[in-house]
Amino acid sequence: MRLSFPACVILALMYTWKTIRKVLVMSLKTPAQDPVFACCDFSSQAAGGCWAAMPASLLILGKGKILKKKLIDLIPEFNLIEDSALREKVLAAWDEAIKLGGWEVGDLEKIPFTLSLKDCPINLKDHVRGVTQACVSIEKIFKKIYNGKIKINRDSLVAGALLHDVGKLLECKKEGGKYIKSRSGYLLRHPFSGVALCYKHGIPEDILHLIAVHSKEGEGFKRTTEAIILNHADFANFDVFSLDVALE
Ligand SMILES: [Fe+2]
Repeated sequence: MRLSFPACVILALMYTWKTIRKVLVMSLKTPAQDPVFACCDFSSQAAGGCWAAMPASLLILGKGKILKKKLIDLIPEFNLIEDSALREKVLAAWDEAIKLGGWEVGDLEKIPFTLSLKDCPINLKDHVRGVTQACVSIEKIFKKIYNGKIKINRDSLVAGALLHDVGKLLECKKEGGKYIKSRSGYLLRHPFSGVALCYKHGIPEDILHLIAVHSKEGEGFKRTTEAIILNHADFANFDVFSLDVALE
């Protein structure tokens, strides 16, 4: 059957539109709409435990670049990581945690850094910055005073400090205007969810160790030098806000 020229043009246009539509539908499909992720409830503020089953490649590719700049603007300490590949992985982990928790980057300035303190005055962003800067300062002082007698991997320390509480974005949810512990938080405290999340993004084991043992879960566990520094920096940044009023 021979087709006229206009008919050929129409057919070509129809085929092109079909292809474009297919690509658009695929790119706009959310994980929850995909049969692969049918068991996951991504509509809730804090995603259920099922998030850990999501292929890392999909998570990393997502729309990570959109949030990256906003994250760096809010937490400039990301730029203290010298290894650019590591910095990208750290940002990707944060990006994913924000999305899985159903948050916006701006929420980092509202989420309390801990649910243990009543009327917590410090948000997660400032806590992460405070801990990271404390770690960097300790590293600088140790390097100067102890002059080579201890070895500290600065990039690992900075990355660990930036990531140590990333799991809190899954541990916490907002309900009725209040920040409360999510189901994920009851099942997996933030050091566990943080490690799982970061493992998927190819964060090296030395840094996963820092996330795993930075809190009470790490008590009785042998810590690396970087993990010791992070543990103390984190608790210093916590304890000053949990002082008994009578002792102030
Ligand atoms: Fe912390």
